[in-house]
Amino acid sequence: MEILKSIQNRVSVRSYRQEDIEKEKLERCLEAGRLAPSACNAQPWTFIVVDEPELKDQVARTARAQTLNMNKFAAQAPVIIALVMEPANITSALGSKIKRKHYPLIDIGIAAEHICLQATEEGLGSCMIGWLNEKKAKKLLKVPAGKRIPLLISLGYPNSETSRSKQRKSFRQTVRCNAYR
Ligand SMILES: Cc1cc2nc3c(=O)[nH]c(=O)nc-3n(C[C@H](O)[C@H](O)[C@H](O)COP(=O)(O)O)c2cc1C
Repeated sequence: MEILKSIQNRVSVRSYRQEDIEKEKLERCLEAGRLAPSACNAQPWTFIVVDEPELKDQVARTARAQTLNMNKFAAQAPVIIALVMEPANITSALGSKIKRKHYPLIDIGIAAEHICLQATEEGLGSCMIGWLNEKKAKKLLKVPAGKRIPLLISLGYPNSETSRSKQRKSFRQTVRCNAYR
């Protein structure tokens, strides 16, 4: 039941207090990401912790989409984690080809959720950010050209009470028994 509580409590936090994150808390979030499952245990990820204020602001700006009014909040967060996608191992890469699904992208999503759930446990707020200018972010973080940054995660203490009801499809809409229809 404990894990379900954390899942229920995790929401995307888009307003942060100007307060640093304790090193141990941040490390536990990263540890949760490190322990995530992945296809063929390829672990196709590197997590870059961006906490140097000026660099962090620049990285936050790569996520800003002014016309859509998106991701302005990222600059408020004291930490941004960039999830870099690494090449899969041979078995995962072969599986991806044969089964025509990109396992590393699935793996990164799982690692991201591990990080965000641990953040909830630590009393921290987080938001996955998939809308970013990857080219700019890669340049700022010195990520080699051939690699990708599918996601950023903003992390910090929420500005206010974050509990809110989740907007989700109903259980009945979501779950089928034994067959699609
Ligand atoms: C892959 C992915 C990319 C996302 N990108 C963004 C983003 O760029 N900006 C943002 O504000 N939220 C982003 N989100 C957060 C979603 O909007 C959010 O998870 C969804 O609306 C459900 O709300 P909740 O997280 O509060 O439960 C992203 C979430 C995922 C899983």
